[in-house]
Amino acid sequence: MQIQTGIITISDRAARGLYDDLGGPALKKAAEGRGWLVTAEALVPDEPRDIQRAIRELIAKGCHLILTTGGTGVAARDVTPEAVRAIATRELPGFGEVMRMESLKITPNAILSRNLAAVVDKSLVVCLPGKPSGAVECLGFVGGAIPHCVEVLQEAPTSC
Ligand code: MTE
Repeated sequence: MQIQTGIITISDRAARGLYDDLGGPALKKAAEGRGWLVTAEALVPDEPRDIQRAIRELIAKGCHLILTTGGTGVAARDVTPEAVRAIATRELPGFGEVMRMESLKITPNAILSRNLAAVVDKSLVVCLPGKPSGAVECLGFVGGAIPHCVEVLQEAPTSC
């Protein structure tokens, strides 16, 4: 199936225009490199309601897969995991486990990351680090499992 993908950059500073959004474009390139169709993009501050609204809007636009970048660290404003878990029906712990295990081979700071994946409605939401290279690296560690996961979620809403 053609995986329709949405990308959300979660960053106070990028949303205020203080930084260019580099993570969103980097993820778009990586997703397209895997043959996925990027159909929607959003840029929101580190606010749970904005994050949740953006996820719901992208799902309403037909995204089977939503990749987020940012807000997974330990700073007080890093609230992406909490925002996503609050609207998810289930979490898929293997994604976070693999991202941290593999990222630790690159940087000891990966132990601080709270990357995760969760199911919202019938869509897969994968939350990646804010650093563009880290986001692309982490997508690379889990990307192989995403097409099957998306297909199962789309085809069999009551089973896994
Ligand atoms: N994972 C990979 N693969 N590469 C990285 O450079 N950076 C780490 C970590 N995971 C990194 C990574 C750092 S420095 C932090 S603080 C956490 O992700 C959380 O990132 P975020 O707060 O930007 O979301």
